[in-house]
Amino acid sequence: MNIGLACDHAGYLHKEKTKKYLEELNYNVSDYGCFSEESVDYPDFAHKLAQSITNNINTIGIQFCGTGNGINMSANKHKEIRAALCWNTHICEQARLHNNANVLTMPARHLDWNEVKDIIDIFLNTSFEGGRHQRRVDKIST
Ligand code: RB5
Repeated sequence: MNIGLACDHAGYLHKEKTKKYLEELNYNVSDYGCFSEESVDYPDFAHKLAQSITNNINTIGIQFCGTGNGINMSANKHKEIRAALCWNTHICEQARLHNNANVLTMPARHLDWNEVKDIIDIFLNTSFEGGRHQRRVDKIST
């Protein structure tokens, strides 16, 4: 599975650790930036990641900004994207089971690395339930 990553300056350190972790697990990782802790604008990176999923370059994405909100809002402007802001494993599990989320967004300034890693593990290892949830997911796009 190909996984795309994105972040702003607030999420840079968690994004770097995520890249290393995913590569250790043998995933193909594409990094859409940013590439330092210098101040940047989160939409610039969310849109690149979202576009890569729309274009079938990546199946899923993982992204960070300080609160998670800005980068999540940006990604969800794309029709094919279902980005879920997750700050614990239960919310993340539900986002996969019920919402078939294809982008995991996390609030970098509110999670330590162990929490991030646990959430990523759940995201990667939980499948969409389908059934009644498919009908609801189908109604998301206007
Ligand atoms: C950057 O200071 C911060 O605004 C950003 O990381 C994010 O929290 C926006 O939603």
